[in-house]
Amino acid sequence: MSRNEKIGLVGSGFIGRSWAMLFASVGYEVYLYDIKTEQVSSALEDILHQLRKLEKSGMLRGTASADEQHKLIKGVSSLKECVEGAKHVQESVFEDLELKKKVFKDIDQFAGPNTILSTSASCIVPSKISADLVHRSNFIVAHPTNPPYYVPMVEVVPAPWTSKDVVTRTQALMKEIGQSPVTFSREHPGFGSNRIQYAILNECNNLVKGGILSADDVDTLVRDGLGFRYAFMGPLETAVLNANGMRDYIDRYGPTIMSVSSTFEDVPTWTPEGSAEVIKQMDELIPSDKHTERQDWRNARLVMLAKLKKEMKEMEKMGE
Ligand SMILES: NC(=O)c1ccc[n+]([C@@H]2O[C@H](COP(=O)([O-])OP(=O)(O)OC[C@H]3O[C@@H](n4cnc5c(N)ncnc54)[C@H](O)[C@@H]3O)[C@@H](O)[C@H]2O)c1
Repeated sequence: MSRNEKIGLVGSGFIGRSWAMLFASVGYEVYLYDIKTEQVSSALEDILHQLRKLEKSGMLRGTASADEQHKLIKGVSSLKECVEGAKHVQESVFEDLELKKKVFKDIDQFAGPNTILSTSASCIVPSKISADLVHRSNFIVAHPTNPPYYVPMVEVVPAPWTSKDVVTRTQALMKEIGQSPVTFSREHPGFGSNRIQYAILNECNNLVKGGILSADDVDTLVRDGLGFRYAFMGPLETAVLNANGMRDYIDRYGPTIMSVSSTFEDVPTWTPEGSAEVIKQMDELIPSDKHTERQDWRNARLVMLAKLKKEMKEMEKMGE
């Protein structure tokens, strides 16, 4: 099933592993590198375990078996071996500007003239990482959503010097591996999903801090309210369907939005002292010894939701 095309992955943590599974699902030869060699071996073991589990639950992507897909992923102990001859290199090391700059300076030496140099950075704008690279016109952000195997949206963010061809090729590659790319016209701090996520988190923190709602009620409000619709449509379509179109929604609710928004408080202080109340309540709700159990619970539900969304798409294709 191999298509004889190489993808280089730098960093074999949580996100690097997910990329490896996604690229292998459509037959790419994946070269996985990490500064810690033992991390690569544990990543390969973990990936095999994850692929087999997905196969059992009927959620494995692609047409090849779990074991066949796993064979396409090769752990390597040198960056040169990872990068040379790759059509696309995806970096997923820690979110640290100086580290990412250093890693890309090294990758740059081994990259070919057409190799796409892509970072999984969550918030760092691409111009900051790539300004001094020889191949900076090949540099781009492909920021996945956690966990990428179940949540397909990827933010594609060019630097001011990224070539149009690199943007187009990155979008095409993301679609090819089954992801859902959203492409930015230019870089913007926090891109889009973290800007929206932080706006929500700021208001949640302020509601708890002000004693207006408990932390539990804030989560209920989103989980059993807004989130119901957001699981399959965006906030703008939600607005359209809550009235007779966007114009009508704005005619009806525009003044209210402006008036309520004028009461928003300043951005809360995101330090342990400044956010003590939300920390205390969340620690009571989900004690630290329950985090792993709860992450497994979340992942199991994401699998169920991904299945349901797949069924919904198939129904839509068949005209309901
Ligand atoms: N976890 C998320 O929710 C999430 C979601 C989207 C994007 N991201 C972004 O993806 C990137 C990776 O995040 P993660 O959660 O996988 O982190 P992680 O801590 O799980 O993994 C990072 C890996 O990078 C390796 N590494 C460190 N320095 C290296 C170097 N010089 N060369 C090669 N490997 C090196 C580490 O050994 C580790 O295995 C970050 O930029 C993060 O912001 C994370």
